[in-house]
Amino acid sequence: MTVLTQPARKLWTEPSELVKHIVARHHASLRQKLPHLDRLLDRIVLDATKPSALLEQVRRDFTTLADLLDTHVTQQEGWLFPRILHLCDSVSASGWACEWEDHLKEALDSQGADSREALERARKVCQALKDPAWSLTGPAGRDFAAAMPALLADLQEHLDLESNILFPDIRDLLRLYGKAAANV
Ligand SMILES: [Fe+2]
Repeated sequence: MTVLTQPARKLWTEPSELVKHIVARHHASLRQKLPHLDRLLDRIVLDATKPSALLEQVRRDFTTLADLLDTHVTQQEGWLFPRILHLCDSVSASGWACEWEDHLKEALDSQGADSREALERARKVCQALKDPAWSLTGPAGRDFAAAMPALLADLQEHLDLESNILFPDIRDLLRLYGKAAANV
C-alpha cells in the first residue's frame, strides 16, 4: 500500500508559525543532506574506473539542484522570510501591510518558478538512478541512490507548504491589508 505524506495543513493557523517550521525542519534538512550527497558523488567519481555518461548526467543535475536549493535557502532566510514575519507583525499591530508590497509579490512569483525547476531536477536525478548501470557505482552509489528519494519527498512537502499554503496566505494578506485595500 502506498502511503502519501501530506503536509499537516490545519496546524498552520499563522504564516509566521509556518515560516518557523519550514526553516527549522526543511531548510535545516537541506543543509544536512546536500553536503552529504555531494560528498558521496565525489566518492563515486573518484572510485569510477572509467568515465560514464550516466554519472556525468547525475553529477550535472545534482550540482544544478544543489545550487538552486542553496540560493533558495539563502534568499528566503536572508530576505523573504524576515519581511514576511515583519508583514505579519505589521498587520497584527496596525492592520496595515503596505511596506515592501511590490517587492514581496515579485519575490513570491519568482520563488514559485525556482521551486518548480528544483523539483524537476530532483525528479530527474532520482529517475536516472533507476538505470541498471548505476548499480556499477559501488557502495557510495548505493548510499546515494538510497538517500535521494528521501530528499525528493522532503522537497515535495517543503515546496508544497510554501507554494500552496504560505505564499497564497501572504498574497491574501497583501490583498486585504495592502495599498489596494487602503485605497478602497
Ligand atoms: Fe524554503
